[in-house]
Amino acid sequence: MKDGTLSPQEETILRKILDGILAERGVDFRGYRSKCLWRRVVAAMHDINIDDAGEYLGALKKDPKAYDKLLNKITINVSEFFRNPETFFAVRDKVIPELIRRKRLKGSKVIKIWSAGCATGEEPYSIAILLKEIFTGENASFQANIYATDIDEEALQKARAGRYKRIALRELSSEQIEKNFIKESEEYYSINPELKTNIKFVYHNMIAEPKFNKIDLIFCRNVIIYFNKSLQRQVYENFHKILAKEGYIVAGKVEALMGIGEDLFERVSLSERIFKKKI
Ligand SMILES: C[S@@+](CC[C@H](N)C(=O)[O-])C[C@H]1O[C@@H](n2cnc3c(N)ncnc32)[C@H](O)[C@@H]1O
Repeated sequence: MKDGTLSPQEETILRKILDGILAERGVDFRGYRSKCLWRRVVAAMHDINIDDAGEYLGALKKDPKAYDKLLNKITINVSEFFRNPETFFAVRDKVIPELIRRKRLKGSKVIKIWSAGCATGEEPYSIAILLKEIFTGENASFQANIYATDIDEEALQKARAGRYKRIALRELSSEQIEKNFIKESEEYYSINPELKTNIKFVYHNMIAEPKFNKIDLIFCRNVIIYFNKSLQRQVYENFHKILAKEGYIVAGKVEALMGIGEDLFERVSLSERIFKKKI
């Protein structure tokens, strides 16, 4: 790969690898950006001491189990509690009060949230912690239903287990840790079971037909960046379809929804990548 562009030969091998993943594992990465995918493929083949992509393709054909390791590399699960804390503050100050106001008008008490591409669970748990803090006093009767989805079963299992290293909790205050975690040892902390009750961790590919409806707020951060423009458009159309009237999307700091979905969404906070469904 020179200047970030794949050679025709690399492009051909990548296509064959992606066809293989689709056939063997049923996951379609063909609309993901070649550059990102190629970096992961190279990392996966170096892990098994192969330098030549053609040879790697042969190795995948010979031992389809190698697709699991490659899938793990592609679905990079890096996440953090309260990743980009300013975004969570903006959601707390600009989005949730408005959702509460609308729900009150309708006589409803449930806010439906979807964390799409939830990886190992840090994002949906952060949302649950944030809402628990907001749903006190006059808002105490409100409740959040959080759907958390990913295409990586291993990541979902970790998310459901809710066990994290102390270092992963660095953005949380000691009060938040005390209220929401159980200390297992100096190194490991587990999510308080009570916090899990309103979160459903489900396997779901966001490229497929949307599963949910009338969602009030979608977090989809640091996933769409890997998709090519037409796939990004498809996902944003899906989100538009299933959001409630004037529902919100929170994209990742690296993701610019504008240029792809401005006919579907309007800005609420550009710096925090918060958008609202246009009517
Ligand atoms: C970098 S993590 C982002 C985690 C979290 N949203 C955050 O910002 O901290 C990206 C996650 O997206 C998931 N992912 C990639 N493609 C997906 C798809 N088509 N549908 C659902 N999840 C997907 C990956 O498996 C990975 O766990």
